Amino acid sequence: MTEGELYDMPQNGRIVSKSNLHNFEKVAIPTLEYLMPQVHNFHSPNIHKTMIFDFVRTEKYFQAIKETISPGDTVLDLGTGSGILAVRCVQAGAKLVYAIEESRIADMAERVFRRNGVADRIVLLRENSLNLNLPSSVDVIVSEIVGNFLFEERIDLFLTDAIHRFLSPNGSVIPGKGSVFLVPMESKALYQSAVNIWTNFPYDINLSPFVEASVNNVFICEINADDFIGTPKTLHKLTFNNIPRQPDPAHVTFPVLQDAVCHGFGGWFEINLCKDIFLSTAPWQPLTHWKQVFFPLKAPIEVSKNDILDFIFEIESTDKEQIWSWTVYKNGAVDESLIQSTIINNPEDKRGLTESHLAKVRALDKSLKMQEEER
Ligand SMILES: C[S@@+](CC[C@H](N)C(=O)[O-])C[C@H]1O[C@@H](n2cnc3c(N)ncnc32)[C@H](O)[C@@H]1O
Repeated sequence: MTEGELYDMPQNGRIVSKSNLHNFEKVAIPTLEYLMPQVHNFHSPNIHKTMIFDFVRTEKYFQAIKETISPGDTVLDLGTGSGILAVRCVQAGAKLVYAIEESRIADMAERVFRRNGVADRIVLLRENSLNLNLPSSVDVIVSEIVGNFLFEERIDLFLTDAIHRFLSPNGSVIPGKGSVFLVPMESKALYQSAVNIWTNFPYDINLSPFVEASVNNVFICEINADDFIGTPKTLHKLTFNNIPRQPDPAHVTFPVLQDAVCHGFGGWFEINLCKDIFLSTAPWQPLTHWKQVFFPLKAPIEVSKNDILDFIFEIESTDKEQIWSWTVYKNGAVDESLIQSTIINNPEDKRGLTESHLAKVRALDKSLKMQEEER
């Protein structure tokens, strides 16, 4: 069958013409990955390869280890993965490193430790850190459980817990602090790739459930400062030794700088690894494997210069997962149906949710049903 015959075949009674497909192909599609639900596959060498060879990231961590560790220190490497940070700690003079890793990549770390002749100074613990106790406190904790928007690997929970239970009183933490930043954006291309792509499928199949999944998700992508329609603001500023289990919702307000269509919000983070070493994923900094993130709006909003956009962001942790919810509104008009939440991608699994989660699920369910009826 030739290409032409294939494309001209009737599909559910509808002819999908070559020209239709042609239009589809012409749309610019930047590569975007879904951030949630988390499928991190940390057992796979693939993801570790991406991180290890992200030299912006790896060299900053190595510099921080060199500046922080003194000969004879005891260290905890929380989430050792391939083991490279633990090896570097020994090379910097640590006498003992506890390397904690819950995924099967620990097998690789064990071999890396042996091949580098440091296995006698590293204790590999194959468990989630929350389930472990250490025989002694440590002088330094190093950890790179840093998500694309800082939080989604649950650094707030795991690092804070490790600091409280394992760090000696004058100990150091790499990283000790972190911030996330946000900015409203006009980007038809990102919105197309994140959301509208599902409404433009050139065959007679309704893929709108993916639209709902997409607007209740966050995307990993590169964002462009030319698309900003407001000034970036700090959404959260954290010191990892002092994070409440359920932080208060963050609220930022953006005066709009120009007449535009707001398609969503761009985000990135910065961590302070030690004294003067910072690692930032801002779009004007050297590109890292984290790139930046994009929060698409449920529907693009037309805005005028000096309009006010509010963004409310809430992180809630259950024992099983982290849920992100956000609401965007213009000029103070609060509308419950504008809530977006990663919980919608897992609506079946409501066990163990608190009353406030359930209220959110109910509001989201209601708004989805209303949308369904309108169709
Ligand atoms: C982003 S990777 C970093 C790996 C390595 N430290 C590096 O810098 O290349 C994070 C690793 O931490 C592990 N991890 C995350 N949270 C953990 C926890 N609470 N307990 C044990 N392992 C954890 C993950 O399985 C993953 O392999």
